[in-house]
Amino acid sequence: MRIIVVGATGTIGTPLSAALAERHEVVRVGNRHGDFQVDVADPGSVARLFQDLGPFDALVSLAGGARFKPIGELTDEDFAFSLSHKLMGQINLVRAGLAQVRDGGSFTLTSGVLAQEPMPGSSAISLVNAGVEGFARAAALDMPRGVRINVVSPPWVTETLQGMGWDTSPGMPAAQVARVYIECIEGSRNGEILDARDFG
Ligand SMILES: NC(=O)c1ccc[n+]([C@@H]2O[C@H](COP(=O)([O-])OP(=O)(O)OC[C@H]3O[C@@H](n4cnc5c(N)ncnc54)[C@H](OP(=O)(O)O)[C@@H]3O)[C@@H](O)[C@H]2O)c1
Repeated sequence: MRIIVVGATGTIGTPLSAALAERHEVVRVGNRHGDFQVDVADPGSVARLFQDLGPFDALVSLAGGARFKPIGELTDEDFAFSLSHKLMGQINLVRAGLAQVRDGGSFTLTSGVLAQEPMPGSSAISLVNAGVEGFARAAALDMPRGVRINVVSPPWVTETLQGMGWDTSPGMPAAQVARVYIECIEGSRNGEILDARDFG
């Protein structure tokens, strides 16, 4: 398969791309790094990416930030950033990518367990994570030509917690999270939200 990994240069994307490359052609896409660059928040940049990429069999999205702040501190800009990157950024990858995905191909997007298990400061992130999941459940019903769409919902990733100097005990290693994306790409699931902890 020819697999596009958007966010391939990040914490989860790096081990995922390495594992996929053992048996597939992997195209690594980042914002500043990778084989190709894109800004998922810019629809023009996304359209140019797919023109440059050409046909593919699977696309994984690990891109799109969102802001973590208490509700009283979240600004209009924080909400606009979160919505345009993690929510519409991923949705626009699907909308534009539909023109290039081959019959029977797949999209795998990313949410996060804060959608169902919020914590103080997560209102913007919980909002966009839940939006990604709602979009994918419904979009799966419309997908043409046998194209599938699923969402992986990671818990805190061990390497991310390490980087922040936080307790790593609730974390799941990035390489283990990556295996759930592979299940979506290589399996036959459609319209599913996969909590990565169920695959630990
Ligand atoms: N890590 C966690 O603990 C955790 C937990 C739950 C959910 N998640 C979700 O999992 C996904 C991946 O997380 P991660 O920790 O692997 O992220 P990360 O290490 O911050 O990496 C982000 C990746 O996305 C790319 N990127 C950033 N902004 C972009 C933009 N505007 N357009 C296109 N690409 C962009 C980066 O490219 P460059 O390297 O070129 O900048 C990089 O490849 C995110 O959606 C995150 O919310 C993560």
